[in-house]
Amino acid sequence: MTTPEHAGTALPVNLHAYEAVAHERLPRMVYDYYAGGANDEILLRESRTAWDDVRIRYRVLRDVSQRDLATTINGHRLEWPVMVAPMAFQQMATPEGEVATARATAAAGSGMILSTLSNRTIEDVRAASNGLVWFQLYIYRDRGVTAELVRRAERAGCTALVLTVDTPILGRRERDLLNRFHVPSEFAAPNLGVDMRATLGAQENMSSALAQFILHHWDAGIAWKDLAWLRSITSLPIYVKGVVRDDDAVMALEHGATGIIVSNHGGRQLDTAVPTARALGEVADAVQGRAEVLVDGGIRRGTDVLKALALGANAVLLGRPILWGLAANGEAGARHVLQLLRDEVDLAFALAGVRTPAEATRDLIAP
Ligand code: GLV
Repeated sequence: MTTPEHAGTALPVNLHAYEAVAHERLPRMVYDYYAGGANDEILLRESRTAWDDVRIRYRVLRDVSQRDLATTINGHRLEWPVMVAPMAFQQMATPEGEVATARATAAAGSGMILSTLSNRTIEDVRAASNGLVWFQLYIYRDRGVTAELVRRAERAGCTALVLTVDTPILGRRERDLLNRFHVPSEFAAPNLGVDMRATLGAQENMSSALAQFILHHWDAGIAWKDLAWLRSITSLPIYVKGVVRDDDAVMALEHGATGIIVSNHGGRQLDTAVPTARALGEVADAVQGRAEVLVDGGIRRGTDVLKALALGANAVLLGRPILWGLAANGEAGARHVLQLLRDEVDLAFALAGVRTPAEATRDLIAP
C-alpha cells in the first residue's frame, strides 16, 4: 500500500482519528449531513456504545500463528469479512466520489454497496475496479424508475441489489434542517432516475432538499408485496437492509430476499430504535443459516467486527469512517481506513483465539 501523504502530520492512528481530520476539513453542512442522526441522536450514540457493551469470552492456547480472514459473500471471495455500506453523495467528501471508494475497496479485498444517492454513475463506479459492487435501491412511486435503475445495475455488472426498507420517509435530521442541507450545485445525482434539482429548484425555503425530494418521489406505501415485485423483475440476489426484528427477517426471506442486512440506517431514521449490536443475535437466530446476514451501525474497531461475526453475521458493513478517509485523503485515505480496520480485525482474532471467520462463534460473547 502506498503511504497517504498528510502534509507533514502523522497518519491517523484509528478510525476515530480519521473523523477528527474530516471534521476539520469538511464544510459544516457536509460534515453534519454525514455525521448526523435523527432527533436527539440517541440511537446514533448507542449504535457505537452497544458494541462497547458486548464483552468477549476469548479463548487461549489455540495456536493463532496462522490466521485467514477470507470469507465468501454471495459467492464472491472477500479477503476479510468487511464491505462498505451504501452512503450518499460521496463527491462532497472527495472530487472522485464513489469512484475513489470503488478503487479503495477493491484494493483492500473488500466490496462496496453503491447508493442510489450517489454523485457518480453506476456505470463509472462499476468500471473503476474489478471489485465487488452491489447497488442499493429505493422503491419509487413510479415503479418504472425503479425498474430502470435495476436494469442499469444489471447491465453495469453489479452482482446484487440492496433494498433499503427503513426509509419510507426520511428521518428528522435536525442538523440538516438547521443547515438547510442541499447537495452543492456542482455535483450531480445521476442515479436518482429523476432530477432532484428539477423537482426542487424552484422551491424557496427548502428545509432539507433531500427530505423534500424523498417525500415527492419515494413510495411511503411500500409493503412486503413490493419486495416480491422486485424479486419478479430481476434475477439478481436481493439483500433487504434495515431489519432489526426476527419476524421481519423471516418475512423478508418468505418474500424472496437472498440476505438480510441488520441496520437502522446508522441512527438516521427512527431515534431510540434498537442498536444493531443488540438486534443481530435475534435476527441471526431467526434466519438459522438459510441466508447471509450482514450488519452495520457503529462499527469502528476490529473487536466490533469480531463481535458481529460471533453474534451471527457473515460480514460487516463499514459506513461513515470511509467518508472520513475520503475527506482526509481521497482514495488513499479510504484505503488506509480499511487497512487500519483490517489490521485490528486480525489482531482481535489472534487475541481471542480465533483463526478464521468460521471460528467466530456465539460462545465468544459473554452472557
Ligand atoms: C440517505 O439515505 C441518508 O441517510 O441521508
